[in-house]
Amino acid sequence: MKRTRNLVLAAAASTALILSGCGSDSGDEGSDGAEGKIGVILPDTKSSVRWESADRPALQAAFEEADVEYEIQNAEGDADAMATIADSMIADGVTVLAIVNLDSDSGAAIQEKAGQQGVRTIDYDRLTLDGSADYYVSFDNTRVGELQGEGLAECLGDDEADLIYLNGAPTDNNATLFSAGAHSVLDEGPYTAVGEQAVPDWDNEQAVTIFEQLYTQADGEVDGVYAANDGLAGSVISILEKNGRAGEVPVTGQDATVEGLQNILAGDQCMTVYKSATLEAGELAKTAIALVNGEDAETNGTTEDVDGDREVPSVLLEPELINADNVKSVVDDGGVSADDLCQGEYASLCEDAGIS
Ligand code: BGC
Repeated sequence: MKRTRNLVLAAAASTALILSGCGSDSGDEGSDGAEGKIGVILPDTKSSVRWESADRPALQAAFEEADVEYEIQNAEGDADAMATIADSMIADGVTVLAIVNLDSDSGAAIQEKAGQQGVRTIDYDRLTLDGSADYYVSFDNTRVGELQGEGLAECLGDDEADLIYLNGAPTDNNATLFSAGAHSVLDEGPYTAVGEQAVPDWDNEQAVTIFEQLYTQADGEVDGVYAANDGLAGSVISILEKNGRAGEVPVTGQDATVEGLQNILAGDQCMTVYKSATLEAGELAKTAIALVNGEDAETNGTTEDVDGDREVPSVLLEPELINADNVKSVVDDGGVSADDLCQGEYASLCEDAGIS
């Protein structure tokens, strides 16, 4: 069903491309009359490796494929730097600006300023609350959280269990949705939350300290851990290792990173969530190109901006649950390469998992 929908979206978007005769050089102006340039600002390099290792190459590939002019930069975790990059991109001729906000307030300010200069804006991956983006391109983020909850429940089984929740950045609307999705599943099970905290900026180092405190407060009586992404899972696993409990306590993750998948192969992580960067970047490119061409973009729903009290036209993709049984599918889909995944000690684990 969802796959069909994505195909329909893809077909509709490519028809639009053909109709508008898109297919320009990456020169100053599109040779097809698509006068404009797309700017993308990624958030940082530390909250997840995904932004530079998966999103940037996928975005480059999608824009190159569409033969549209583009610029991609990374704000390195600095909201002021993101605003400065946005200003310089606009001065540089960007007419469509996509951002992964570092927090809603700074994202909304960037969008408002862009709008005043006639620049159309898109929220990429993270919704800017009370923002003014024309479109939102992401995954179904509540579903991401549900998958994390389902995966953890599967690893835990039916016995009663004490859980610690390590949530993502409180300033990231996605983190709120992930946690809510996970709770909606786990709160129905025979589980008790014995600790829960959000990690500012998804900072992996702070996560180590925060988790160690939660673990100590619970006297080590912890049977499972909800960690919002693979980076936070790595922080949790380091403390479990220190306490001789890695592999014994299931931990969730997200992003299907090399590290996360290796932890799954090693039995230290219960699951991760795969969100294909190729699909997400492809949808962003289609949406941005429609705006560059002065057209409406294809969407498959709307997302409620609770603070702005508006419905944002959205393209929302389906995330996939990855556990020890299907790590191979991420490699087969091109999410990570077998070479990166199967280095050193992971070579034999890859072989066991049928990955080569
Ligand atoms: C993204 C996740 C990512 C996290 C930290 C979220 O908004 O959806 O994929 O792990 O930010 O960068």
